[in-house]
Amino acid sequence: MSKDRKLELYIYVYAVFFAGILLLAYILYRYGNVSVLGVVLFGLLVFISDNLSTPLPKTGSVSVNFGITFACLIIYGPATAALVTLISIFHIKDFLDKVPYYKHLFNAGQYLISIGICSIVFERLFTRIQVNFLTGPNIGAIFLGSIIFFLCNTALTTGAISLSESVNFFHVWVFNFAWLTPFHIFLTLMAIAISFLYVAYGHFTLLFTSLPLIIAQYTYMLRIKERRALLNSIVQIVRTMEAKDIYTAGHSVRVAEYCEQISRELKLNEYDIEIIKNLANLHDIGKIQIDLSILNKHSTLNMEDWDEVKKHPEVGYEIVKEITFLKGAATAILYHHEKIDGTGYPTGIKGDQIPLFAKILCIADSYDAMTTDRPYTRALSKEEAICEIKKNAGTHFDARIANVLVKILEKNV
Ligand SMILES: [Fe+2]
Repeated sequence: MSKDRKLELYIYVYAVFFAGILLLAYILYRYGNVSVLGVVLFGLLVFISDNLSTPLPKTGSVSVNFGITFACLIIYGPATAALVTLISIFHIKDFLDKVPYYKHLFNAGQYLISIGICSIVFERLFTRIQVNFLTGPNIGAIFLGSIIFFLCNTALTTGAISLSESVNFFHVWVFNFAWLTPFHIFLTLMAIAISFLYVAYGHFTLLFTSLPLIIAQYTYMLRIKERRALLNSIVQIVRTMEAKDIYTAGHSVRVAEYCEQISRELKLNEYDIEIIKNLANLHDIGKIQIDLSILNKHSTLNMEDWDEVKKHPEVGYEIVKEITFLKGAATAILYHHEKIDGTGYPTGIKGDQIPLFAKILCIADSYDAMTTDRPYTRALSKEEAICEIKKNAGTHFDARIANVLVKILEKNV
């Protein structure tokens, strides 16, 4: 990152932090009646929830904390909700991991601004009546407040990412946050349920509303951890397999990198990008069943050898479809040697019959194969490989994806 860019980022972080603190002071001054019970109960819940939150593939984390804080805003008003937000900023794990101080400042600032602006608008429209507060205008105020929080929260974070990575603001927002919208709507509905039951039946209802939410979040986090552990083990197997052959060492890692770059250029969402990277890491796992004497053969492969090699997409598919979260996209492995004109294998499907992920995987795999030395072919230079891709666009490769890869490669010359 350039010095100027770094300075801009620091100014941005400090501006967000001080704006958040000013907004907190204004809210405490303007809506001063803080509920100690509210701060203690909801503060404890958001503290637990945020410390059990789940890191996302690219940025930020998934936490149910908004649902709890927003319920607190509905019940007790802006001042109590702002103090609860302040508590939610302290993540023990971040301190243990020695997360840089400016990240804490930024998080504090952006949460305080988001809840602050959301509270001011919400409080103007919401009528706090005991028990049945779910009137039409109040529900409207809740959803408007929720939308304002989401937009402020994601826009401020997007601003920091686009400044630090010099990328388009809108693209960063779409890639990282747009897909969280349904989850945010779910949390808003949970906030309504939590506050309604709390007002109607008392604070013990938090045990049946917020706690299950936190437990669900914790279980989700464990699943993600398990998933990563499982993937790491499988990827290790692939690395060991590749390490035995000097020609394929590091192949899958590079294919995964090309797939990621192509997917970003095609504006796929973060979830799909994570899936395709995992598939790329595992795309040749089916070779595990091929006799090593064929894989390491230094003479041209005969027909029987080729028949053996051509089985690897099907074998790989059978393995990968057993991994629950990759099951739906595992056909990318089955079809990663299919060609647009139908001359590929194992099935000879053509054009749009080939899934998008398989088309991406195919071109990334082919480009890496072209640019690395193989037993009887020398590696092509980047320029030569670009010519090959252009020549085969529309017959071997999908023309649009070929254009995207060429654009990426030419940009990086
Ligand atoms: Fe392959």
